[in-house]
Amino acid sequence: MSTTYTLDTSTSRANPTPAPLKRLTIPALQARKQGGQTAQPVVMLTAYTARQAQLLDSHCDILLVGDSLGQVIYGLPSTLPVSLDMMCAHGAAVVRGSYHSVVIVDMPFGSYEASPQQAFDSASRIMKETGCAGVKLEGGEAMAETISFLCQRGIPVMAHIGLTPQAVNMLGGYGARGRSQKEQDKILSDGRAIADAGAFSVVVEGVVEPIAIALTQALPIPVIGIGASAQCDGQVLVTEDMLGLFDRVPRFVKRYADMAGLISGAAQLYADEVRARQFPGEEQVYQPKK
Ligand code: KIV
Repeated sequence: MSTTYTLDTSTSRANPTPAPLKRLTIPALQARKQGGQTAQPVVMLTAYTARQAQLLDSHCDILLVGDSLGQVIYGLPSTLPVSLDMMCAHGAAVVRGSYHSVVIVDMPFGSYEASPQQAFDSASRIMKETGCAGVKLEGGEAMAETISFLCQRGIPVMAHIGLTPQAVNMLGGYGARGRSQKEQDKILSDGRAIADAGAFSVVVEGVVEPIAIALTQALPIPVIGIGASAQCDGQVLVTEDMLGLFDRVPRFVKRYADMAGLISGAAQLYADEVRARQFPGEEQVYQPKK
């Protein structure tokens, strides 16, 4: 049973939004793209926990509870084993930890591909249990009917095209897409199909830059790039990648911090102090009242 309020927290008495942090809405994000131009790029990062959401919230427009949590949090080899239960638990935590950003939750592999009805059942569960604003699913033309079905029933959908990690077994790896004319045509027709179907935005991952630019210019909805181009309408990265928590990251990741070094350094210091009986010190122990 989720303890997350499904009301928009900006209108909830139980969990009022701090004054400067009114929660963004999907229509407000969509409206940033006017006449094919986005003056204020969309800032999106992944988040999987409440505390992480608290730290990222005021800096971002969108917090994505990505199914990348399978690899980042659970140590799984790919996103394929991620379950709806996992997405609901982490999605609810991120909504609880945020006041300002639009929270989008990934639909995991196997929870939406079979039919629009299956997708509705999964997406409505995610929305009820987490309080998120919308869902993300992978796929282009093949998912257009499903995207339309969900949108007509009140579920905002962000699509994900180009390199789609849930299709890694079909793609044969995580290499960049759009190197051949055939792949470029497919990425563009996927983008047009999902925009026509009603997706409010699309993530384009791991594509050669000219096709990312062409897609951004062609679509009326915000195109969020990851391994794409600075010309996209916004950018997303996996937070742990950009914080420098992993040794192996894709080429498109820029490290903005060295969290691995910080954590390992702190653990080393703690271990040294425990072994030298320097921790706990006077400040960390209780004494009987005098
Ligand atoms: O699962 C995820 O984190 C994602 C982003 C990389 C876009 O889909």
